[in-house]
Amino acid sequence: MTSNISLRDVVETDLPIFYEQQLDGEATQMAAFPPRGRQEFMAIWDTVLQDKNLVQKTILFAGQVAGHVVSFEQFGEREVGYWLGKEFWGQGIASRALAEFLDYEKTRPLYAHVAKHNIASRRVLEKCGFVEHGLVVGTINEDGIDDTELMIMELV
Ligand SMILES: CC(C)(COP(=O)(O)OP(=O)(O)OC[C@H]1O[C@@H](n2cnc3c(N)ncnc32)[C@H](O)[C@@H]1OP(=O)(O)O)[C@@H](O)C(=O)NCCC(=O)NCCS
Repeated sequence: MTSNISLRDVVETDLPIFYEQQLDGEATQMAAFPPRGRQEFMAIWDTVLQDKNLVQKTILFAGQVAGHVVSFEQFGEREVGYWLGKEFWGQGIASRALAEFLDYEKTRPLYAHVAKHNIASRRVLEKCGFVEHGLVVGTINEDGIDDTELMIMELV
C-alpha cells in the first residue's frame, strides 16, 4: 500500500487542502499546535514557498494530496515537520514520506519537536532513525503558552 506514496514540490493549489487539514481538532491536539486562520496560514505558506532555504514537499498518496513535510531553520538548527489529513492516517504514509524526505533534506543533525503525548509522530521519527535528545516544556497556543511537554528528537 505504501508504494503509492510520492513526494513533489508544493504548489499553490495544495494550500487550501493543507489549510483544511490543519483545522482538524484531533490533529491540533496531537501536535499541540493551534489551527491558523486562513489569512495567517496563507501568508505563512507564501513565505515558505519563496524561501529557497526551506525544503517543502507535498505528500501524494495514490495521486491525492495526503499532506506535507517541510524542513526549516529554528534557533540555528534544522528542524523537520509534517502533517497529514486525518483520512490518510494509520496507513504508514507519514513513516514512508519522512524516510523519502530525508533523501532531500541531508542536514545532520536534524531535529523535530514532538508533543510527548503524540505517540504516532514519535514512532514516525523513531522508525526514521531519530532518537530522544531532550525535553522542553511549553508550547504556544491560542491562549498563550501552555505546559505541554515537547520531546526534542535528533537524527545524527
Ligand atoms: C502523526 C501523523 C503524521 C502520523 O501519520 P501516519 O501516517 O498515521 O503514521 P504511520 O501510519 O506512518 O504510523 C507511524 C507509527 O505510529 C503508529 N500509530 C499511528 N497512529 C497511532 C495512534 N493514534 N496512536 C498510537 N500509535 C499510532 C503506527 O502503528 C506506526 O507504528 P508501527 O509502525 O510501529 O506500527 C499523523 O497522525 C498527523 O498528521 N497528525 C496530526 C499532525 C501531527 O501530529 N504532526 C506531527 C507533529 S510533530
